[in-house]
Amino acid sequence: MKEIKIESTLYVFDSLQELPKDVLSLMEKAVQAREKAYAPYSNFNVGAAILLDNNEIVCGSNQENASYPSGLCAERTAIYYAGSQFPEAKIVRMAITAGSKVNKTTKPIPPCGACRQAVAEYEIKQDAPIEIYFMGETGAIAKSNSLANLLPLMFDKSVL
Ligand code: THU
Repeated sequence: MKEIKIESTLYVFDSLQELPKDVLSLMEKAVQAREKAYAPYSNFNVGAAILLDNNEIVCGSNQENASYPSGLCAERTAIYYAGSQFPEAKIVRMAITAGSKVNKTTKPIPPCGACRQAVAEYEIKQDAPIEIYFMGETGAIAKSNSLANLLPLMFDKSVL
């Protein structure tokens, strides 16, 4: 038996003021997207903004449904839109913000496993890392240099 250790590295910015200007403006777009979330069941609003290498910015928010599993997370709403509108463009980075209507979300909220899997597909497709920034409503912002860093042991086309 051997032990395999898997390491992930995150960078944490204490506040929005610490972010580089272009990242701050992407996060502001994510906040605007979050305000458009349709989340009457969970009361948990999420917004995502994606910067493409053609300088387009694509946003998405979570869209819920009375048939709960039919809803979709903000990150996938945004990335599928980007993939369908700009199939040739590479994704540079994604900014995500999540806020509960019930209590203030003050720590970074990471993307769910299904969204990591979806974003991973595009990272592999474009053969270039996608930076992921995520936060709550206020407080610190976490950054991962790639999606792969957030999804060790990912299931990808190499196993098919
Ligand atoms: N949600 C997202 O939009 N992104 C995530 O990564 C996690 C969860 C949404 C789905 C649902 O509408 C609500 O947040 C509560 O789970």
